[in-house]
Amino acid sequence: MAYYSIQGIPLTSLAKEFATPLYVYDADKIREKISVLRSSFQGFPLSIKYACKANTNLAILRLMLANKVDLDVVSPQELELGLMAGYEGSQITFTPSGVDFSEIEFAVSKGAMVNLDNLSVLEKFGQAYGNSVSCLIRIKPHVFGGGNAKIMTAHPESKFGISIHQKEEILAIVQRYGIQVSGLHQHTGSDIKDGKTFQQAASALFDFAKDFKDLEIIDLGGGFKVPYSPEDPGVDMQEVGGLMSRAFLDFCASYGRPLRLWIEPGKFLVSEAGTFLAQATVVKKDPIKTFLGINTGLNHLIRPMMYGSYHYIFNASNTNSSEQENYRIVGNICETDTFSFDYDGNQNERMLNKVQEGDVIALANAGAYGFTMASHYNSRFLPAEVLIDQGKAVIIRKRETLDDLTRNQVF
Ligand code: LLP
Repeated sequence: MAYYSIQGIPLTSLAKEFATPLYVYDADKIREKISVLRSSFQGFPLSIKYACKANTNLAILRLMLANKVDLDVVSPQELELGLMAGYEGSQITFTPSGVDFSEIEFAVSKGAMVNLDNLSVLEKFGQAYGNSVSCLIRIKPHVFGGGNAKIMTAHPESKFGISIHQKEEILAIVQRYGIQVSGLHQHTGSDIKDGKTFQQAASALFDFAKDFKDLEIIDLGGGFKVPYSPEDPGVDMQEVGGLMSRAFLDFCASYGRPLRLWIEPGKFLVSEAGTFLAQATVVKKDPIKTFLGINTGLNHLIRPMMYGSYHYIFNASNTNSSEQENYRIVGNICETDTFSFDYDGNQNERMLNKVQEGDVIALANAGAYGFTMASHYNSRFLPAEVLIDQGKAVIIRKRETLDDLTRNQVF
C-alpha cells in the first residue's frame, strides 16, 4: 500500500518544496471516486451532495463544482465557503443538528435546501414559511450501523434526525402549515461497508415515506467506508450502489412516480486522495520499545486518538523493505498522541522501512476529516495544504505564522 509519488511527484520532493507537516491531495483520485459513484447508481437521476465537513478547502470545493457534485453543509460557515467556491445556493443542502432557527433562516435566505431534524424546528419552519419554501426532513431510522459506535448516527439513542416513531407528530405539523416536504433523508453513520446496513436503513425510510405524497427526493446520506488498512478492502461501491439502486427503483414503482436519489458521501470522495506528510524528528530507542516521533500530533490528525482509527503509515524516504523496524509512532504534542493504532483500536507499533531522523513519514487516507478537524492546540500552526492536478503541485493553503495565532486576541 506504500506509494512514493503522486502523479509522478515524489513525496520527498513535496516535503522538501512545501515543508511539513503538509496535507497533499490528488485531484485525479477525487475525480476517479466521483465516477465510481456515478457508475454505481444507475437507472434514475442521481445527485451527489458532497458532505464537505470532510474537507472544505476552497480548491477541493471548486473541483467538486467543476465535476457537477453539489454540497451538503452543516454550518452557515460551510455554506458561505460553498458560495465563495462558486456554488449557487440552490446546489447546497443545509443539514445541521441542534442549531438555532436563525441558522435555518440564513440558509433559506441564501436559497439553500434545508434539512430539518427536530419537531420544534419543523414547527418554526411552518410558522415562518408556511407552504412557500420546501424542505427535507431528516429521519432517525433506528438502525445500528455496526462499526465504530462513535460515528454511528441512526441508532435509537442518536441525537440526529426525528425518530421514525414520530411520524404522526411530523405529519400533523406538516398539515397544520401546509409545509412542502420535497424530500426525506437519513444518514446511518460513517465507515459502513456492509450493503445490508444501507439496505436496512433505506427500506425503513421507504416504508416511512409512503405517507408523504409530494416527495421529489430521497436522500440516503453517506457513510461509505474507505480502505484504511491493507486488510480492509472498504466498501464494494458497485455492490452497495446496485443494492441501493434496485431498492430505490422498487420504491419509486410503488410510490407511483420517479424520484431523484441524493447521496452525501464525504470520506468516499476525498479520504484516499489525501496524504499527510510529516518529518521524523526523533527515533527514541527506549528499553521497552522504539518510539518514532514526528513533527505533528493529534492537533493535526485527530482520528487515531479520537476514534482509535487505523491510518496506513510508511517511510516515504526509504523504499528498501529488507530492513524494517517496529515503531510506536507518536506526535509532538504534550498529550499521548499516538498515530499507530491496530485494527482493534489499540495503540500499537508498526513495521516501517528503517527510519533515520529527518525522513519523510506519510500517513495515508488523510483527505477526509484530517485538516478540517485540526486545531491550534499547543499553539502550533496548522499544516499547509497542496493540491496536485495535471502533474503540478499547487499550494492551496499557506503555512501559518504567529499572526494567525494572535489575530483575534485582545491584549
Ligand atoms: N451526511 C451526514 C448527515 C453526515 O453527518 C455525514 C458525516 C456525512 C453525510 C458524510 O459521512 P461520510 O461519507 O464522510 O462517512 N469525523 C469522523 C466522521 C464523522 C462523520 C460526520 N458526519 C471520522 O473522521 O471518521
